[in-house]
Amino acid sequence: MTPTSAVGTHPPADLSMNETPYPPLPGIRRIVADGAAALQRYPDRTSSALVSALTARLGVGPEGILVGPGSAGLCQHLVQSLGPRPEVVHAALSFEGYPLIIGNAGARAVPVPMDGYGHDLPAMADAVTERTRCVLLCNPNNPTGAALRRDEVRAFLDRIPADVPVIVDEAYREFVTDPDAPDGMELYRAYDNVCVLRTFSKAYGLAALRIGYAVVPPRLTRAAALTGAVFFPNALAQAAAVASLSPDVTPELTRRCTELVAARTRLIGALRGLGVTVAPSEANFVWLPLGEGAVSFADRARAAGILVMALPGAGVRITVGSDEANDRLLAFVRAALAEGL
Ligand SMILES: Cc1ncc(COP(=O)(O)O)c(C=O)c1O
Repeated sequence: MTPTSAVGTHPPADLSMNETPYPPLPGIRRIVADGAAALQRYPDRTSSALVSALTARLGVGPEGILVGPGSAGLCQHLVQSLGPRPEVVHAALSFEGYPLIIGNAGARAVPVPMDGYGHDLPAMADAVTERTRCVLLCNPNNPTGAALRRDEVRAFLDRIPADVPVIVDEAYREFVTDPDAPDGMELYRAYDNVCVLRTFSKAYGLAALRIGYAVVPPRLTRAAALTGAVFFPNALAQAAAVASLSPDVTPELTRRCTELVAARTRLIGALRGLGVTVAPSEANFVWLPLGEGAVSFADRARAAGILVMALPGAGVRITVGSDEANDRLLAFVRAALAEGL
């Protein structure tokens, strides 16, 4: 969403893109600045330093790791390379990028309606046929914030044929606190058709650099890597991602996630305290199922200098921001309720 106005002396509080409110760590900023001295050089085509850092972090051999231009870019490379079957099953309401990615890959989206705020996994398993290229699971789900539970995902995976890859998109994994939500890596180890997508955009705060990674069954790596073999990711992104995995910065990144989760709890509590319906969230955003009121809420918020993401007829997704931005949001909601939200 493009900021259209600022109110008073404040720039707009942009809570529309699920970005972290934290600025880059000083060490990472320095690495990117220093990288400017070598912009004439192509990046390492094999991202060797990053792949080895991920190998060490995840306990997976390099043959199972892909790095690429954000997890959305990697999702595109994967879905494209998994052809030729024509259909991709995903939940609706889920990440708005999926229909675009599926269409770009020359496939047809098979959206399966939600069960409340979450994926309807039994219905998604029913939707898998001999035409299915792959399945996309978003955990936690964007935009509703719901996390899948371990037992339901395993029951789902038990029903999916081994030759149908299931891509588990964990863009928000670092914000999950529910112990019943499975870690994608545990699913990857247990099932031969699971791919896991992760990103440096959210918890690591590198959204502008466009870098993410995927953990995939080794038999699928080569085709996806060839699909994306255009000097992705760039050199600055690789260097920043490697530094972000260093043990030196892990405590600070973990502290930031813990702080953000606490802010999420406070924000949900405060909104509910005002009488607003808020879905439970395991991500860095909250979902207000406002239905037909979604667009007018977002319009009024924008006029008050707060940008949120409205999905017409469904609801509004609001990123958990800085304390100051969250307070501005709460003040807006209080005022809007007083005027009859
Ligand atoms: C579920 C999900 N997957 C992927 C992405 C894209 O992330 P990246 O910046 O890594 O491409 C987003 C971004 O909002 C997302 O919500």
